[in-house]
Amino acid sequence: MNQRPRFVDHIDLAALRTAVNCSRLFTKYLLNRWGAPSLIDDATLIVSELVTNAVKATGNMDEHPKWSELHDLKLIKVRLVGLEASVVFEVWDTSEDEPVLTEAGDDDEGGRGLFLVEELASRWGSYAQPRGKVVWAELPVYARTPGGLPIRQRKAPADPSVQPTQHDLGLLRRVRDGLQDL
Ligand SMILES: Nc1ncnc2c1ncn2[C@@H]1O[C@H](COP(=O)(O)OP(=O)(O)OP(=O)(O)O)[C@@H](O)[C@H]1O
Ligand SMILES: [Mg+2]
Repeated sequence: MNQRPRFVDHIDLAALRTAVNCSRLFTKYLLNRWGAPSLIDDATLIVSELVTNAVKATGNMDEHPKWSELHDLKLIKVRLVGLEASVVFEVWDTSEDEPVLTEAGDDDEGGRGLFLVEELASRWGSYAQPRGKVVWAELPVYARTPGGLPIRQRKAPADPSVQPTQHDLGLLRRVRDGLQDL
């Protein structure tokens, strides 16, 4: 990462199943604070997958872990780095094993997490650390051209011949009532 970060923040979490939800909330909170709410959906998915993998590799994924099983609990660090035109999501864990992108078959139970990360992120990877490693993924803040350049979204000029959408209030009420009855 050669660019100077504009924003950086991190959270240390115990390597437990609850780290997944905590990391999602942390990501959502930071992206809102940094003015990049459009990244939240993809970012929370990516961070969930990376943190789940980190907990599976080093911690305890039980829904109700026992205190006696937690004496050797490891930490996970989730760091978000806001650059000029992208945000990088890094998850550090204490395992030296590398993530392995696999092509999951229809009947396979696992092996989809990194595939999802590969689909959503513009780039991802991992690097070794003195104690463990970091798996990271990057999301561009703007849509990109095939050549990789950021495209800024411009508002289309208002067309005076186009009338604003007329909502059928009766239909909207029936849809709302139907949903409430589900
Ligand atoms: N942080 C990590 N530490 C060690 N190994 C990892 C880590 N992340 C991924 N891996 C390895 O890469 C494999 C593929 O990860 P991936 O997330 O794609 O699938 P999965 O976790 O096995 O299943 P799923 O994510 O679909 O529940 C894992 O099975 C694991 O062997
Ligand atoms: Mg996974």
